Amino acid sequence: MSEYIERRREGHVLVMRIARPDKKNALTVDMYEALADGLAEARENLDIRAVVLLGSEGTFCAGNDIQDFLSRPPRGDDAPVNRYLVELARATVPIVAGVDGNAVGIGTTMLLHCDLVLVTARASLRLPFVGLGIVPEAGSTLLLPKIMGHARAAELVLLGDAFDGARAVELGIANHVVAPETLESDVMDLAERLASQPPGAMRETKRLLKGDTDQLQAVIAEEVRIFSAQLHSAEAREAFTAFMEKRKPDFSNLG
Ligand code: COA
Repeated sequence: MSEYIERRREGHVLVMRIARPDKKNALTVDMYEALADGLAEARENLDIRAVVLLGSEGTFCAGNDIQDFLSRPPRGDDAPVNRYLVELARATVPIVAGVDGNAVGIGTTMLLHCDLVLVTARASLRLPFVGLGIVPEAGSTLLLPKIMGHARAAELVLLGDAFDGARAVELGIANHVVAPETLESDVMDLAERLASQPPGAMRETKRLLKGDTDQLQAVIAEEVRIFSAQLHSAEAREAFTAFMEKRKPDFSNLG
């Protein structure tokens, strides 16, 4: 359990909110565990017909909590972050996300597994993995080129520049830009519409749209393997230390 993941039921909809705004909703081990548990419940409990993922006003998720990541690095397939990724990839009911403000790292890659994504114009998405000395995760090295083609995926992950909500829609990561004031009600409306459809047809159609997930699971596992190895590299250490020390990283002496 984590006090920073609020979980509630609204009819057939499971709503999960990342609520740690003072740390920009960065995710700790306990938060991953709570998110993974919520998705596992949605997979097992047929009464749940849609899942909603929300952040806080002005911040969706700043990715892995860097401090927590360094002190408790993920180990093994059953590490909470890995469990969360696997649950996202094998979700059986539609997931609707609402994104306002920052969505960094896994804050962006988790959206690739959602079925409908609403963003605000001031949403700021970013895939900073390479600059942090690590590699993208959540199957994003497979999903990004599939969604937008290699050239655009390469630009996002190799340069790691931030992009806004309108660009996320152009790139096919999000469906629509909505006003911050209506984001949550718009997301809930969509989720309730999905949850009111015939549940069997909904599950089967989601499964067909997602296609064979074996390749995706294999890519997630391969990314985890390289990510974990890179995490112990000198370049990652420099990048993470620089973030904690609020300075620019210096990779000039690294081979
Ligand atoms: N891990 C740990 N702490 C984080 C964090 C993260 N990923 N992202 C933000 N925080 C913390 C900051 O250290 C700061 O803590 P403090 O108030 O104790 O100093 C607090 O959250 C506010 O962050 P700040 O950077 O001051 O906010 P901002 O509005 O200027 O910038 C972001 C917001 C998200 C752009 C910026 O915090 C950021 O780039 N975070 C890192 C994102 C990242 O690289 N994630 C991938 C990790 S694999």
